[in-house]
Amino acid sequence: MKQKKLIIGNWKMNPTSLNEAKKIFTNIRRIASKTSKVQTIICPPFVYLNDLQKLVTGPRCVLGSQNIFWQFQGAYTGEISPAMISDLDIKYVILGHSKRRELGETNEEINQKVKLCFKYNLIPIVCVGENKRSGSIKYFDFIKKQLIESLQGISKNQIKKIVVTYEPIWAIGKEAEREATPEEATEMSIFIRKVLSDIFDLKSISQLQVLYGGSVDCQNAEGFLNQQGINGLLLGRVSLISDKFNEVLKIAQNL
Ligand code: PGA
Repeated sequence: MKQKKLIIGNWKMNPTSLNEAKKIFTNIRRIASKTSKVQTIICPPFVYLNDLQKLVTGPRCVLGSQNIFWQFQGAYTGEISPAMISDLDIKYVILGHSKRRELGETNEEINQKVKLCFKYNLIPIVCVGENKRSGSIKYFDFIKKQLIESLQGISKNQIKKIVVTYEPIWAIGKEAEREATPEEATEMSIFIRKVLSDIFDLKSISQLQVLYGGSVDCQNAEGFLNQQGINGLLLGRVSLISDKFNEVLKIAQNL
């Protein structure tokens, strides 16, 4: 069976009221619950998860968490345990998003979080991406290091369940230098699969889903989704504008 396209909305620290969050989610759910070829995952701020979970009506449009802590319990002021996320019946967790790495998150911490995900039956969506591209091809080494260190000690069985998202930092957010091209995203998706097949093996990663994220909108979504190695998208800004996000869902459905 053909894999569903994964379309993830990362709301970051938006919107600023629960009411607004409910509105956006309900609008997205209207379309997402009808798109049979798409798995929609909305990742709101933690404080909205419980309330929005009550609005989930089926498996096509579910919630994910934007992060978890690297321990499951204890005296960690302000942190959220993977056990708590799992207890809310939430399955997906974004890890290593560039905005968290910017705040100091390391590959080693991400690695601990990935391992905890498996303990609590959560699916990690591991983000990788380089800051800059220069004339040299050093950024490939950078991505390789992120992958190796973040996924160290993961078993062949576990790697099958991981989602990897390529998000070049230079293409993310309002300050993006430029958009990445579908070809650049595909090239990196091939590289990611190559690095992981060298560590694990080809069979273990045959089902691996590699997504692209960074300034995705209704105009460029199809170009990325049409690439063979790209199994879905992660959207930031556009995931807060339900009409536009729904357009992307329809594009993914009608490919
Ligand atoms: P953007 O964000 O779609 O607003 O560029 C993507 C991301 O940071 O995940």
